[in-house]
Amino acid sequence: MYEIIQSLHSYLGYIVLIILILAVVNAISGLFSNRIFNLEKDFRISLFALIFTHMQVLIGLILYFVSANGLQAIRELGMGGLNSAARLLAVEHPFINIIAVVLITIGWSKHKKVMEAKKKFKTISIFYGLGLLLILSRIPWGQWF
Ligand code: HEM
Repeated sequence: MYEIIQSLHSYLGYIVLIILILAVVNAISGLFSNRIFNLEKDFRISLFALIFTHMQVLIGLILYFVSANGLQAIRELGMGGLNSAARLLAVEHPFINIIAVVLITIGWSKHKKVMEAKKKFKTISIFYGLGLLLILSRIPWGQWF
């Protein structure tokens, strides 16, 4: 069970990062090019980024309860007993990534409420961009690659 969820979370991590980077680059380019907000491309790419990050959070939550590096690490060592690598996996990565996905979700719902293309691109650039930065800041890079 653990191995399957862990591999799923690990491989989906690549897809999430790629789609999120594409969504942010696309929104920033739309913002500066003054083009219309296209439903085929701009809407879809932001929607896919939203869906995949949500899937990753759900799998991450399951992983948190089945992995020895998640809740179990806190139970066994206590918050004070975690070294920085263990704290990254058990506390910082889950907490910061949930905040990141909340930001992305806020950006998604805000962009739907504005009509002007420039404002849509700006909202996605800011909220998805911040979410991406937060995610990048707390990936366990050393363990992943
Ligand atoms: C979009 C957000 C997220 C991304 C891109 C992401 C990505 C990753 C990556 C790349 C790893 C390393 C995988 C490996 O070692 O092969 C990892 C590990 C882990 N993630 Fe996430 N994650 C996200 C959200 C979450 C959330 C929200 C939680 C928990 C609530 C979570 C829990 C964990 C845990 C516990 C590990 C360590 C697993 C282990 O070593 O046994 N992740 N994550």
